[in-house]
Amino acid sequence: MTNALRPLVAGNWKMNGLCESLGEIQTIVTACVGAGAEAPEIVICPPATLLMAASDICQDCRIRLGGQDCHSEAFGAHTGDLSAPMLADAGASYVILGHSERRADHGETDHMIMTKARTAFRANLAPIICVGETKAQREAGEALSVVGEQLKGSVPVDPGARVMVVAYEPVWAIGTGLIPTAADIVEMHDFIRAELCRSLPGRGETIQILYGGSVKPENVSEISKLSNVNGVLVGGASLKAEDFLKIIAVYR
Ligand code: PGA
Repeated sequence: MTNALRPLVAGNWKMNGLCESLGEIQTIVTACVGAGAEAPEIVICPPATLLMAASDICQDCRIRLGGQDCHSEAFGAHTGDLSAPMLADAGASYVILGHSERRADHGETDHMIMTKARTAFRANLAPIICVGETKAQREAGEALSVVGEQLKGSVPVDPGARVMVVAYEPVWAIGTGLIPTAADIVEMHDFIRAELCRSLPGRGETIQILYGGSVKPENVSEISKLSNVNGVLVGGASLKAEDFLKIIAVYR
């Protein structure tokens, strides 16, 4: 069990947030001023349109920003896409990759996610690589094998010293209010840890594994205590500073 890693609390705003939502980030920054080294790492992933303004707000504070996706190439003729160097230039330090909504809405494959992760590394972004099974796959007893395949296909095995994070997000738990049992979360996180240690000798035990899917102020305390859960990736409950701060407070 590796719970000694510094916890990471990441907020994924998805396709939500206008300029007026920057006030939520300001509230989080103000509340976190003066937090000590024992405090969790905090990452906010607003839509890319807000990154530069959010970066101004977060200047000189320990809150990091992230993108929600990047292209597999650094520049070029890809209308509508954003690249890893652009996200870094706008103030991001992290990028979420392979979220199930990207896999479903944009047909992203494990191979594409692996390629994006390598591009992210070159831009000095830390990828948060998402994996997770569907409801049908869990009911068919395939959850571990599906996630095992996703890890094999999408997590680079040669990150060197670069920061990389894995997020387990069961598709059926995202935005539904449903969460797996504690035993199921532990089984999956222990499995992911074992897979990372096998494929990345010497590095696997240093990679934070986040749980994501209907994390709320009411359930985060129990989740935070589970084996190999090194933090959370929060969607809906990260949109309001009040809720996100309650989640952060559990890790203090
Ligand atoms: P949720 O989303 O917290 O709203 O379930 C989590 C995610 O998709 O990252």
